[in-house]
Amino acid sequence: MHVLVTGGAGFIGSHTAVALLERGHRVTIADDFQNSSPKVIDRIEQITGTRPGLAAVDLLDEEAFDAAFASASPDAVIHFAGLKAVGESVADPLRYYAHNLGSTFSLLKTMKRHGVRSLVFSSSATVYGDQQDPPYREDGGRLDATNPYGMTKVMLERILSDVAESEGGWHIGLLRYFNPIGAHPSGLIGEDPNGIPNNLAPYILQVAVGRLPEVNIFGDDYATADGTGERDYIHVADLAEGHVAALEKLSAVEGARAWNLGTGAGTSVRQMIAAFEAASGHPIPAIVRPRREGDLPRSWADTTRAASELGWTASRSIADMARDGWRWQSQNPNGFAD
Ligand code: WQD
Repeated sequence: MHVLVTGGAGFIGSHTAVALLERGHRVTIADDFQNSSPKVIDRIEQITGTRPGLAAVDLLDEEAFDAAFASASPDAVIHFAGLKAVGESVADPLRYYAHNLGSTFSLLKTMKRHGVRSLVFSSSATVYGDQQDPPYREDGGRLDATNPYGMTKVMLERILSDVAESEGGWHIGLLRYFNPIGAHPSGLIGEDPNGIPNNLAPYILQVAVGRLPEVNIFGDDYATADGTGERDYIHVADLAEGHVAALEKLSAVEGARAWNLGTGAGTSVRQMIAAFEAASGHPIPAIVRPRREGDLPRSWADTTRAASELGWTASRSIADMARDGWRWQSQNPNGFAD
């Protein structure tokens, strides 16, 4: 299949582009590099031996995007492009609603205009909010995020479902990621957040590589095994393979269908720090700070639906994630800026 990957120069998008190419699919990346580096295209070619097509456009520029779409003429779309920093979304909700919803509207109108109705959408476990106790089930109740970023995902899942419901012929996969970390084993691509990382794993790695002084542990008085927050960390390569599995099963979906992409297991902050100490071979300084506003104590996936319907389960361990994440960060201490 020829797949248009929006945001394909980003962390999950680039790993998914690699998995698609290695599976024999054709890939065109649509990315305006606002939040990613053009170097990623070269690295994808270095890893796979194939250079993906590139449409260096902003989805919000509907005319330019339509022209790029027409020229690529893909069979399906995987839509990653969007803003994704929770804290930033609280500070500037209008920017998040305008960007994440607007770019998806532009994509949907363009897909309809060109008769393409197969779409894999990048959603997030954040849509579960604090509505359920883990393990979170796709049909476990109302979706209701606790921040504007998460609400854009709740809204877009609903919009995509309504579009699919209103017109036949749509095949839409809604993939709810838990906590993607790690990097491609080559160490050539990985997570490279702008500024100070919001998320735990890139923060730990920047401490491990000497860019930051110490890890802040946001609370150690949760009702968890060691008092620190527990999350379902999933290797980005497993996540990428989950996208390929969803894409290849999409024709069997009439309408829209949600699937969790997680491991089904929770790991604490302290356990994560220990895993990265083992991978890097040196101690990683950490200090306990007050809880972070809006954090849940525990979060992990019910993985049965993806296993039974996609034939996909995550296979890589926390040690694999730490080893591969460390290789990426130690080989690229300043990310793609090096
Ligand atoms: C993980 C754990 C923190 C940073 C977020 C988004 C979610 C998704 C993944 C996009 C928590 C603790 C963190 C730090 C810490 N993104 N922590 N010190 O909050 O589970 O999920 O990223 O889809 O939408 O909400 O991930 O990595 O920020 O936090 O102690 O410096 O690490 O309290 O327990 P989170 P996270």
